Amino acid sequence: MANGEQSHADLSQRAAELRRLIDHHNYLYYVEDRPEISDKEFDLLLKELEELEAAHPELITPDSPTQRVGGQPISAFKTVHHRLPMLSIGKAFSALELREFDTRVRKALGKQPITYVVELKIDGVAVSLIYTDGLLTLGATRGSGKAGDDITENLKTVRGVPLRLRTANPPAHFEARGEVYMSKADFARLNEEVAARGEQRYANPRNLTAGSLKQLDSRITAKRRLRLFAYSVGYVEGIAIQSHLEALELLRQYGFPVNPEIRSFDTMDEVIAYCESWAEKRFDLPYETDGLVIKVNDFEQQRRLGATNKEPRWAVAYKFEAEQAITKIREIQVDVGKDGTLTPVALFDPPVQLCGTTVSRATLHNAAQIELKDIRVGDSVIVVKRGEIIPYVEKALHDAREGKEKVFHFPTKCPVCGAPAVRENGAPSPRCTATATCPAQLQGRIESFAKRERMDIEGIGEKLAEQLVTSGLVKTVADLYYLKKEQLIGLERMGELSAQNLLDAIEASKNRGLARLLAGLSIYGVGEGMAPLLVQEFPSIDALMAASKEQLAAVKGFGPRRAESVYNFLHGPGQKIIHDLCAAGVKMTEDVKPKVTSGPLAGKTVVVTGTLQNYSRKQIEDVIAQHGGKATSSVSKKTDYVVAGDDPGSKLDKARQLGIKVLTEDEFEKLIGVR
Ligand code: IVH
Repeated sequence: MANGEQSHADLSQRAAELRRLIDHHNYLYYVEDRPEISDKEFDLLLKELEELEAAHPELITPDSPTQRVGGQPISAFKTVHHRLPMLSIGKAFSALELREFDTRVRKALGKQPITYVVELKIDGVAVSLIYTDGLLTLGATRGSGKAGDDITENLKTVRGVPLRLRTANPPAHFEARGEVYMSKADFARLNEEVAARGEQRYANPRNLTAGSLKQLDSRITAKRRLRLFAYSVGYVEGIAIQSHLEALELLRQYGFPVNPEIRSFDTMDEVIAYCESWAEKRFDLPYETDGLVIKVNDFEQQRRLGATNKEPRWAVAYKFEAEQAITKIREIQVDVGKDGTLTPVALFDPPVQLCGTTVSRATLHNAAQIELKDIRVGDSVIVVKRGEIIPYVEKALHDAREGKEKVFHFPTKCPVCGAPAVRENGAPSPRCTATATCPAQLQGRIESFAKRERMDIEGIGEKLAEQLVTSGLVKTVADLYYLKKEQLIGLERMGELSAQNLLDAIEASKNRGLARLLAGLSIYGVGEGMAPLLVQEFPSIDALMAASKEQLAAVKGFGPRRAESVYNFLHGPGQKIIHDLCAAGVKMTEDVKPKVTSGPLAGKTVVVTGTLQNYSRKQIEDVIAQHGGKATSSVSKKTDYVVAGDDPGSKLDKARQLGIKVLTEDEFEKLIGVR
């Protein structure tokens, strides 16, 4: 016993020691930016503490670094009302506008000396962090400025956010404000991962940061490596601060990362020179900035200047100008996207320098944009690039035309495969109609084939599909079933284990049945909705191949255009694909459930209203169909039964008016004989 207590005291001491070490190294890494140990050594410390706390949960403290990654996801964020509003800032786009700001400030303050603090404007998401007696108790988004979301659990995962203020006597209440952001490098890496999962890439680090902070499951946020720069103090109690520089110093002492590029100046000339010195340098920073923020340092002066209901009068944001250049469009090239969309791309002569890069081409987005902006081949154009954002053609200089400029006509054939390219009514650009066979669309087709609702091949997302196409390993989706392990191991980031997992996933997909297979083949007009209707009539590939165009057109919901597309695919380029799939052992039939023509609900129309205890809406509809009935959504004279659950809607009133039989959930179950 005595022994046990002794060792428990030791363990508790070790836990405290580990917490101190982890905090210290976290601080060196995220605040001071000068780590002393490797990531691996850091992970070992964390692992030791995790194991210790797992074995002795009584040792866990709320500010333990293990508590950064929370437990269960939550269902929604609570609303937080900010004690002091989180204002936005007025903007200045030029040195002139900065001088105007200076004039306004000096006019309001009389002849007093003024010190301006100048900081980088970090392009991320504004947050508020509240510490009660030194412990982080609430973290919130800016939201409307008056009220935001309680994202405490997500903010705890941000490594630079102190869980406890680094001070022996913390103020009773302390609010730090700052910007959560993602480094350019982390953004690039994470966006690759997003793309590899087949999800849409994020446009910029700010959007990905915002998306990460909005996760209901903080374990996802924890994987995003978000960072923080604290830039001001909000509502505080129990401590007096006189100026912004003091506030920044306090934040630093309390353990917050504060941006190192902060300077203070007594004249606007110096402020302007400092701002302009960042015009090019900012591209070398490891994170994105969209300008600088200039703040009056003295809090008493800030108070006298006050604020409008939107912005303080003591601060202004200097925004970097978007860079632009003039050049000529030598040619408009047409790219074919993954989904067959024809995208116009302008090639410039000469190439131009923008934001530190040479730009020789830029997308013109789509045919509609070319028409709207009246852009012609040979036109002089203004090309714009703002920060990291992709360059685009802002406008054509119509007055500079010489008469040799040519209106651009989109090709009527796909530049890659030669199939007709058609611009549907109202579509922004034409599309290649050979969805199932155009090589440019192969990558998109593989991704769509592997989707969960279709062949459900885990592991095939955008990235892998791209690799399979560019390596030449896959030329049609059927080739997936002929892949060999050795070939896969040759691909980037593909080890023995992941190759085997992929092959297993491909193997498992052979049994999905004809409807999902057809939906996966990217045949124009045949998706998840239509494929089941098609196999209801033709439950095997042989039956389908034997069908005439007329028979296909007679399938419910089909019509001649879809029929034509299916027929052409099956008897044209699809023939070989189907043959290869078949030879690989992919299931080519569908176990169609026979139509129920007897049973208590045979031929009956049933409407469900309200919430049921035992069934979701989809489940009850399936049950009705299994018993020969038809579930519809609105009550009419043709309705046979209305099943009413909790909180029924107006459908129940209507049923009563029309004298239709109303069943409780119990009565319904008795009717179909499950009770
Ligand atoms: S101060 C009243 N300082 O810019 C001034 N804001 O429009 C409150 N931001 O949403 C903000 N870096 O998220 C301040 N060093 C910085 C900043 C900064 C980025 C963001 C902030 C706010 C927006 C202001």
